[in-house]
Amino acid sequence: MARDMIQMTGVDKNYFVGTPNELHILKKISLTIQEGEFVSIVGVSGSGKSTLMNLIGVLDRPSAGTYLLDGMPVNRMTDNQMSDIRCEKIGFVFQTFNLIPRNDALKNVELPMLYAGVDAKTRTRRSRELLELVGMEERMHHQPNELSGGQKQRVAIARALANDPPILLADEPTGSLDSATGRMVMDLFHRVHEESHKTVILVTHNPALAEETERIVTIRDGEIIDDRAGGGKAVSR
Ligand SMILES: Nc1ncnc2c1ncn2[C@@H]1O[C@H](COP(=O)(O)OP(=O)(O)OP(=O)(O)O)[C@@H](O)[C@H]1O
Ligand SMILES: [Mg+2]
Repeated sequence: MARDMIQMTGVDKNYFVGTPNELHILKKISLTIQEGEFVSIVGVSGSGKSTLMNLIGVLDRPSAGTYLLDGMPVNRMTDNQMSDIRCEKIGFVFQTFNLIPRNDALKNVELPMLYAGVDAKTRTRRSRELLELVGMEERMHHQPNELSGGQKQRVAIARALANDPPILLADEPTGSLDSATGRMVMDLFHRVHEESHKTVILVTHNPALAEETERIVTIRDGEIIDDRAGGGKAVSR
């Protein structure tokens, strides 16, 4: 039986807590995602998608409720435990790539492995393998400003996979790309999902891309208002 990778129960996220300006951004979110699922999160701008992704990715703590990540209670973790678990369990991909400017592609992909204490030789070998996986081996000595948007995102995906995390989180990964390049990046997510059985969670404004995933969770005003099956999609090769 598949195990629960993400289990949120009654999760709230509030800002400016205890002030007259207190904001209730996420309200009573209960969401369970099983190992190996490919889920998209949709909703209008400001509905709380990135806030939810930051909680799922252990960048932030819930204000109330419980969050078990692979069975571990995030609420009770120290900041150090949170960064350790992030390093081990989560790969992040962002709309704006967030690559380190003066590091080439190879070094960018190596960085999470450096944090994880992997030795230099293994880092370089694995970084090359990952850049090959995303079709970027010929550009491995290029810096981000020498790469196109789609190429940067492929490097960012390789980086997200560096420590072989069970969970891949992508917040609008195709949002800055033209549709053909977005298609290529989306195909890469399908491939990673199918070949490595990772749990993939994708925020997107593109309904067609959301339909390709196995499950579509819709957020409005910080609440889950719909949670239904998507069509899924075979990998195009
Ligand atoms: N650090 C913060 N402090 C206060 N309010 C915040 C903070 N971060 C986000 N918010 C507020 O939370 C709400 C949800 O923001 P969030 O970034 O999660 O939306 P989103 O669904 O990702 O939107 P978009 O599609 O535009 O990226 C917004 O009203 C935003 O202003
Ligand atoms: Mg957002």
